[in-house]
Amino acid sequence: MKKTNMHAILFLLCTLTLGACSKQANYDYDNSKPVYQKADLQTLRQAPYPIGAAVTPSTLKSNANYRNTVTTEMSSISGENAMKMNAISRGRKSYFWDDADYLVNFAVENKLRVHGHTLIWYKHTPSWVSSFSGTKEDWKTIMKEYIQDVVGRYKGKVASWDVVNEIINDDGSLRDCIWLQKIGPEYISLAFQYAHEADPAAILFYNDYGHEYSHARRKKAYHLADSLAKNNVPIHGLGLQMHTNISRAGNDIRYAITAAAVTGLKVHVSEFDVAVNADKKLTAINETVALQQKELYRVAAKAMLDIPENQRWGITMWGVHDPSSWLSPNPDWALPFNASFEKKPAYDGLLQGFYQGK
Ligand code: XIL
Repeated sequence: MKKTNMHAILFLLCTLTLGACSKQANYDYDNSKPVYQKADLQTLRQAPYPIGAAVTPSTLKSNANYRNTVTTEMSSISGENAMKMNAISRGRKSYFWDDADYLVNFAVENKLRVHGHTLIWYKHTPSWVSSFSGTKEDWKTIMKEYIQDVVGRYKGKVASWDVVNEIINDDGSLRDCIWLQKIGPEYISLAFQYAHEADPAAILFYNDYGHEYSHARRKKAYHLADSLAKNNVPIHGLGLQMHTNISRAGNDIRYAITAAAVTGLKVHVSEFDVAVNADKKLTAINETVALQQKELYRVAAKAMLDIPENQRWGITMWGVHDPSSWLSPNPDWALPFNASFEKKPAYDGLLQGFYQGK
């Protein structure tokens, strides 16, 4: 290669590299670690798309700091357990509404969006359903009654629903569940149809885990969503649970979010948490793992920012502060607020991900 060409290529490479760097990050004194700029927000409520948390009515009632963190920082709530079938359904046409009502009223009072989690799931099925006996039509009827009673009660108050949860296995096959056994694979499209009839304005999701690691599940999920949409089944979004941990590469998280958006559906990172102690070696969180955790929070927030605006349903974290996470007994510290409701580095990771400047 001629020397002049070589220089031109070197110049181009340097320019491109510097250009790319100046767009993404400044560099700190040791010139190796990127220092990302943070969006200048008072609270997460000002994020460029909704940020939410899974909450429990009992903690909202008993813990003022928890409640204040939700009302100050969050734009959306999901019931961690309160809207699951075994929490609401006590028998055929018999319901326990207190907890779900509390969440919905709390959200209305505090101008929060409610994401309903979850109508149909292979877990948390009430025992009367497991022991129900009837024809295929009878099974369709009891599913329809349940879905329409719940969605209908909260029509106009619950913005979106996980209609079906965890319906595909890691290998891409349909997960076994009582509804699949009794109704067949059409239970999926029927569930969406019934929910849509009860609240035509609700945004309806298929929610699942493992998009960040299972190619087979991803492929099947896109295929399923596509065929539902082609058959005019009212599916509007894909929920990616994203229970992850610091050993996961940021690119896996970014890819899951970006690729889900290619379906054209709305994308909800619906149960986000980043475990720092998956191998249970730590007795306390330390700076090294806290910074690794921060980086994954940044990547998720940025990936959501980078998909088209009308597809960003937002990021919901699975809990409010570390002790309210389902992972905390492990022990773990998976969320952006610590036990004293102080902001952890993960919170700054979110702010970095929201940064929209050059
Ligand atoms: C979990 C809750 O966090 C726990 O409190 C409960 O004991 C079990 O369920 N995927 C889901 C959530 O869709 O509903 C689960 O929530 C976590 C995994």
